[in-house]
Amino acid sequence: MPEYDPVADLYDLEYVHDHDVPFWLALADRENGPIVEWGAGTGRIALPLAATGREVTAVELSGAMIGKGEKKGGAVEWVVGDMRTAKLDRRYGLAICAFNSFLCLPVLEDALAFLRNAREHLEPGGLLGLEVSAFTPEELAEQPGGPSLRHDLSREMPDGGRLDRYSLSRYDAATQLMGMRLFYDLYDASGDLRDRREHDLEIRLTGRDELLLMLRLTGFRVETVYGGFDREPFTAGSDHLIVLARR
Ligand SMILES: C[S@@+](CC[C@H](N)C(=O)[O-])C[C@H]1O[C@@H](n2cnc3c(N)ncnc32)[C@H](O)[C@@H]1O
Repeated sequence: MPEYDPVADLYDLEYVHDHDVPFWLALADRENGPIVEWGAGTGRIALPLAATGREVTAVELSGAMIGKGEKKGGAVEWVVGDMRTAKLDRRYGLAICAFNSFLCLPVLEDALAFLRNAREHLEPGGLLGLEVSAFTPEELAEQPGGPSLRHDLSREMPDGGRLDRYSLSRYDAATQLMGMRLFYDLYDASGDLRDRREHDLEIRLTGRDELLLMLRLTGFRVETVYGGFDREPFTAGSDHLIVLARR
């Protein structure tokens, strides 16, 4: 079962941010042709892009995530597919892989397979925009006594209930894998616990130079590296790593 299927109903409650969307809209404004988003989730970025009148294809592994995206309406062409292997029978001017979808590929070979596939789907001169989270060594360090439970978020739900999410995470520097166990508590409007879920997610972290090397190995020409959505330089303290690379 795709990793995001069991929590697709909670995704839009968890991730309410949109501070990255203007960055992708501005990039789309600059680049020509249709747009593909790889690992598009529930359309957090694909839908505002399509709202500008551009043709947008959204590729997503989880049918449940696509189901949530489709319910929002909008002119996105949804494709259930694996970003490593999906064949879309057309080429795009701009490809986006954002908000850690790239990190969902747990093995280096998977990441390379995706980049080769993404390149195949770009017109010559087409642009890939890739964004992942960046972590400081302190954030990744094992805490004495093991990982501790963190309260990540609390959200009011449309029916008056509440969602609380807690997590435990552990990073293994040898494999670059970060394992996260997420704990969801859902309360109804009267404050009674109505559902409790646990969900495991694993991501493979990457650094700037590894990512640039992967892009070069798969036939891209790296154009720009940013450390955030205001186009600031990438530094040791950056929260984001954004790379723009051309076919
Ligand atoms: C953190 S979410 C980001 C979603 C979206 N890009 C956003 O900004 O909200 C990662 C998404 O990547 C999808 N994903 C993971 N592996 C994938 C793969 N091999 N092919 C396509 N989608 C994948 C997951 O199902 C999930 O919806």
